[in-house]
Amino acid sequence: MRMVDLIEKKRDGKELNTEEIQYIINGYTDGSIPDYQVSALTMAIFFQGMTEKERADLTMAMVESGDQIDLTAIEGIKVDKHSTGGVGDTTTLVLGPLVAAVGVPVAKMSGRGLGHTGGTIDKLEAVPGFHVEIENEEFIRLVNENKLAVIGQSGNLTPADKKLYSLRDVTATVNSIPLIASSIMSKKIAAGADAIVLDVKTGAGAFMKSLDDSKALAQAMVNIGNNVGRKTMAVISDMSQPLGFAIGNALEVKEAIDTLRGEGPKDLTDLCLALGSHMVYLANKASTLEEARQKLEEAIKNGSALKSFKTFLQSQGGDASVVDDPDTLPKAKYVVELPAKEEGYVSEIVADAVGTAAMWLGAGRATKESQIDLAVGLELRKKMGDFVKQGESLVTIHSNQEDIEKVKEKLYESISLSKENVVAPTLIHGEIT
Ligand code: URA
Ligand code: CA
Repeated sequence: MRMVDLIEKKRDGKELNTEEIQYIINGYTDGSIPDYQVSALTMAIFFQGMTEKERADLTMAMVESGDQIDLTAIEGIKVDKHSTGGVGDTTTLVLGPLVAAVGVPVAKMSGRGLGHTGGTIDKLEAVPGFHVEIENEEFIRLVNENKLAVIGQSGNLTPADKKLYSLRDVTATVNSIPLIASSIMSKKIAAGADAIVLDVKTGAGAFMKSLDDSKALAQAMVNIGNNVGRKTMAVISDMSQPLGFAIGNALEVKEAIDTLRGEGPKDLTDLCLALGSHMVYLANKASTLEEARQKLEEAIKNGSALKSFKTFLQSQGGDASVVDDPDTLPKAKYVVELPAKEEGYVSEIVADAVGTAAMWLGAGRATKESQIDLAVGLELRKKMGDFVKQGESLVTIHSNQEDIEKVKEKLYESISLSKENVVAPTLIHGEIT
């Protein structure tokens, strides 16, 4: 087989077969096929697309390029949740303990990564003592015992995807639905999930800004999952404004605790119940979605969701007293309100820009080397559709720097007010199966 012939085949819009895709991915991973040939191929894919069979083959070839996590020692159906990323998305922190409380095993592998706030691991590390440096056997034991554990990402998961993603990043080929879908799905499948619930965000703060693109990406991922034998479904959820109120690490832990207690923001609660119901249903812990939802609501009401969070924190070295006394979480030196300059209805909160403001405070990493400040971040006081009086707070800023003029300016730019009544955006735009 010659790579040049395969590039030509794809350039001319023909379908690559399983062996050809394996040849490309193996050769690229071991270095025998150079970057310039793979760049040409990804550009051909960008324009010609990929068939369903090619997408499934590409996903599995990337899964097989590195380690695959074996979760067979964990009893039950392992359901993973993946979000395509947004601003202040506290769902993972809530969903883990919530679905674990009704018996769904959650074996979560998480990363740190870049962005507006830290990843799930960073957020959890705001709890004093909590750590993810545990051995594989301990991880499995904890999931069997408590139904929930979190471990850091293994070094050699989907190396082909790592290489391909870096290449796409500098060749203007990130934005291809078959390539995005297989990239995301390869990581979930290598991490050992039996079933996958996807939270595909849509709107200004999302990777996919338009509803049509979000639906197409969701459908592409769902089809890949189902074609390779993993039950997969997707919820399309709104990210035109940040989810919940808190954007920041310790602040989001506090928000997750409030939500598990039944006192969280309505949008975050509703989304967690929607995603959680699908997880419980796919794990065969309920025979209908309605029954799944009732079980989750009951777990919040009777305190078992909160208890599950405590047990989880404790089992990984964390100080579980933060659950009853969130004051022991890291706190910022300065807590400053952002007063509305005039009255009106909140008509826009540009999620991306608000996330950037949080990152400037130190809540997230701009580069891999950046240090995260777990204490800082933002708490929205108003969401789209709310009325605000002049002088009333729009946002509470938690900062360890005294000079936050730039942050304030950014926030004023990102929040728009209107004299006219504003309807809050729909939270869930659809489900894809
Ligand atoms: N996120 C991924 O993991 N892969 C992509 O290709 C795009 C976003
Ligand atoms: Ca939030």
